[in-house]
Amino acid sequence: MKGLNEKLCNMKFGSILDIATRDGAFIKRLVNNLSGYDEITGIDISNEGFEKAEAEFAGNNKIRFQVMDGCHTNFPNKYFDLVCISNSLHHVNDIPALLKEILRIKKDDGIILISEMPADGQSGSSLTHALIHNLDCLIDTYSGVYHHQTYSHKEILEFISDAGMRVEDDFDDLEVNLLKNESIAKRVDKALIKVNKWKDSENYEELHKVAMKIKENYNNYGASPAIQYIIFAK
Ligand SMILES: C[S@@+](CC[C@H](N)C(=O)[O-])C[C@H]1O[C@@H](n2cnc3c(N)ncnc32)[C@H](O)[C@@H]1O
Repeated sequence: MKGLNEKLCNMKFGSILDIATRDGAFIKRLVNNLSGYDEITGIDISNEGFEKAEAEFAGNNKIRFQVMDGCHTNFPNKYFDLVCISNSLHHVNDIPALLKEILRIKKDDGIILISEMPADGQSGSSLTHALIHNLDCLIDTYSGVYHHQTYSHKEILEFISDAGMRVEDDFDDLEVNLLKNESIAKRVDKALIKVNKWKDSENYEELHKVAMKIKENYNNYGASPAIQYIIFAK
């Protein structure tokens, strides 16, 4: 079965929007794999990742970044040929508003591309990454930062159908990338260090349990990127 990169190789788009782009990592994937594009705009509600993003694409005048809320953009109706959101549905606090906005700004025959770490279906070395993410999510939540736990395949599909979108293609994508395996492995020990900072908190026991689960899963299976659920919709 073809993965996302192989599918992108046969695709070409005019105007592209990447919502919740942070440091433009998903744009890099688009640029490296699409067979062509005219312009890519990356938006994020925060400019935290923009320095890295702008450095990555310095000299490429087809790519730009703007601080903007994906739920309320100022783009004209029916502007984009492709609208993407990667690993961020669970960071957005009003998913119905986000999907409604995507439908407003994409062309009638425009494509929506969602890539999201699903809550279910993670196992072996991929589960190590998913558990590290669960821990980050709990820590963000207890720190007052909105970060919902990841959604299941079924929940993601429900958001999409409730918004009136039609799924054209969906599949699980498992990225093979040894460098990413290494960087995820480094986060295993960091998990315990992070949790230790919560020693005096009522949430410590729960956080510590997750950190121990991460360590155990890593010892048994190692670490690799979590499965991504990919959806092409209209
Ligand atoms: C996990 S990061 C994004 C990862 C990135 N898309 C990637 O694939 O590497 C989640 C991002 O969602 C952004 N975000 C949350 N709510 C948003 C909103 N309403 N509009 C735009 N960005 C939002 C956060 O600022 C954060 O940078």
